[in-house]
Amino acid sequence: MCGIVGYIGEREAADVLINGLTRLEYRGYDSAGVAIVNGSLEVRKKKGKVKTLSNDLAGNVLRGKLGIGHTRWATHGPPNDINAHPHTASDGSFALVHNGIIENYTSLKERLTNQGYTFSTQTDTEVLVRLIEDVRNSTGLSLGKAIRQALSQVQGTYGIAVVSNDDPDMLIAARKGSPLILGIGDGEYFLGSDAAPIIEYTRKVVYLNDGELIIVRRSGFTVYTVDNIALDKAIHELEWDLEQIEKGGYDHFMLKEIMEQPASIQNAMRGRLFKKAPYVVLGGLFDVIDKLKDADRIIICACGTSWHAALVGEYMIEALARIPVEVEYASEFRYRNPILRKNAAVLVISQSGETADTLAAVKEAQSQGIPVYGICNTVGSTIARETDAGVYLHAGPEIGVASTKAFTAQVTVLAQLALMLSNRRNVLTDKELKNYTKHLLAIPGQIQQVLDGAESILKIAEIYRYANNFLYLGRGPNFPVALEGALKLKEISYVHAEGYPAAEMKHGPIALIDRFMPVVFIAMNDSSYDKVVSNIEEVVARDGNVIAVTDAPVGHLDTLCQHVIRIPTTTELFTPLLSVIPMQLISYYIAVLRGCHVDQPRNLAKSVTVE
Ligand code: F6R
Repeated sequence: MCGIVGYIGEREAADVLINGLTRLEYRGYDSAGVAIVNGSLEVRKKKGKVKTLSNDLAGNVLRGKLGIGHTRWATHGPPNDINAHPHTASDGSFALVHNGIIENYTSLKERLTNQGYTFSTQTDTEVLVRLIEDVRNSTGLSLGKAIRQALSQVQGTYGIAVVSNDDPDMLIAARKGSPLILGIGDGEYFLGSDAAPIIEYTRKVVYLNDGELIIVRRSGFTVYTVDNIALDKAIHELEWDLEQIEKGGYDHFMLKEIMEQPASIQNAMRGRLFKKAPYVVLGGLFDVIDKLKDADRIIICACGTSWHAALVGEYMIEALARIPVEVEYASEFRYRNPILRKNAAVLVISQSGETADTLAAVKEAQSQGIPVYGICNTVGSTIARETDAGVYLHAGPEIGVASTKAFTAQVTVLAQLALMLSNRRNVLTDKELKNYTKHLLAIPGQIQQVLDGAESILKIAEIYRYANNFLYLGRGPNFPVALEGALKLKEISYVHAEGYPAAEMKHGPIALIDRFMPVVFIAMNDSSYDKVVSNIEEVVARDGNVIAVTDAPVGHLDTLCQHVIRIPTTTELFTPLLSVIPMQLISYYIAVLRGCHVDQPRNLAKSVTVE
């Protein structure tokens, strides 16, 4: 949610900033801007994608070796040139970019207006800029100290970067709730709200923590606490490489990431899942597994697609380890004063590791003395660092705004966790564990088989590309897959879609069925198959168009349904790993056919770092 870049060194800052903003665009894409210091402070900002800004810069080059840039996902004030970042001091002496929300901006603005400050934008960010000016004017403090003092008056979240005309050898950044990383080069430094804009220059990074402010000069950097105490920060090595954050010949990141799933799932199992006892070792949870196995309740908190993965996890952990599981929207959990008994454990799932609501759930549980374990994809992310222990997905960077490979990697990790807990609790026999392991190990190859049939899914998408509504139905562990299928379609095709447990259809949604309504059924040949087939009959009897995803042998379904997508057979609990692939492909193809911007759907942003 909003991308920040910064550069100080000997390169042309504009090149580094535009390059970085292009890589960060998945965090927000309604406007973009840069500020560059070179004798004077020059700001260029434009509504629209980074491309619009870079075209503008190409025609009118900005030179300078120090600068900041921003790609915006609007919160306060519509996307337009004026609300775009950077925002500048009234005297033009410094410029600031911001990710997050200044929650008390109304009262601050009122106070500053009464003092005579004027505002030209509708953003909360401009209020922070005026506040810094006010602190400077009233105290004569240096810019760094004025920023720190102004931030102490701010409620809400921020990741900010500031450059000043008065000091061409200084880049300042600070964070609270919005991630910032400093990349360390040779006499040069790169700032990013994640690793994407940094990775092609250096792998050495420092993660800023909440409450920290950094002053970067060409000769070095110092990180300070809110109380102005200088800190010794550890230098970390980034594990992703450039190739992973590029499209690699695919039209869209989403398609690349869908196609990568055999490999990303393999990576989520590598060194963790074995054909022999102990079958699963999740290293990151090894020291806490006994605590987790004895929990009388596991509460899983997550948002969006990660929440759907959590629902699949609920089925798997309850069935295989016999521990009661509850799945909560992270955004609700924090505000309903959750009752957490001593023996509860909280598990959070987040691809980005930066989702504000999920982070708030971590803090809520920790404030009640409950251990929190994380399943994250982004190494070094805030949630990964704030949780008490956890497991990485190792799925590689996910750039497409619609999550795909993260979902399957999350489900893979949850399946392994369920098996590990099962083993520790002696729920399954050795033979059963071996069998589940065998099925899980076979999943990457089976996903490849589904992907090999993508062409036939494209043909179905061509038929339904103009439909205005879709229904997705599934049962058991495939109910969350129905939700995920509907979410994917909504997100990237802007087609209204709803997911339901198949049996719930008769309690309402059946009223929607007519010949214009495509209904996607996940009808696996498992314990609920006959019941799902009855639901299909009910839809067909009302002229609905059925697309069935199944592993059942050719037969009844083929005569009953308009379209049948066949997927391989696995054990019932692991079917979501296969059944979700056609869901991803249907939404991808429909979005492409409808001319939608697949990787940057309207109004969305990857990594939702505001509440
Ligand atoms: C959907 C999607 C979102 C995210 C949600 C949580 O395709 O990407 O629904 O799943 O914003 O994000 P993370 O997993 O980063 O916490």
